[in-house]
Amino acid sequence: MDRKSFINQITGGLTLTCISCMMQACSKEDGTTPSNNTGNNNNNNNSNSGSNVILTVNLSSQLLAINDFVLDKGVVVVRTASGNVATSFVAFSSACPHAGATINFVKSSSTFNCSAHGSNFSIDGSVTNGPASSALQKKTVEIDGTNLNVK
Ligand code: FES
Repeated sequence: MDRKSFINQITGGLTLTCISCMMQACSKEDGTTPSNNTGNNNNNNNSNSGSNVILTVNLSSQLLAINDFVLDKGVVVVRTASGNVATSFVAFSSACPHAGATINFVKSSSTFNCSAHGSNFSIDGSVTNGPASSALQKKTVEIDGTNLNVK
């Protein structure tokens, strides 16, 4: 085997190895179920594909009481009143507008907190304590039977 054939053989092998590694990395990410930080198990898989639904919550088993919340898929949705109507819920991006850390919902005070730098937000998403200078990004809530969809 000459030098050129040898190098081509080695380079081709490395390329295949790298592609294989990348595909494995992608498949691991795709197969990972995102966790939610609610204590509620969100077993919904957003079957409304084709729409702009970010998160679907089954209201038969989740968000049953006022201040119950689901934090998943980059959004947080909170029940603020009884009844399965859109106005009984608020939903926001869970990314803090200050620097993008994930916010938490504090049930005891019905507020949102960002532990990264201490920003606080009221239940309507407005800033009550900086350093964040803008409100949480509001999301749309729609009710479809027993499903709540966040868009
Ligand atoms: S990222 Fe939330 S306060 Fe800084």
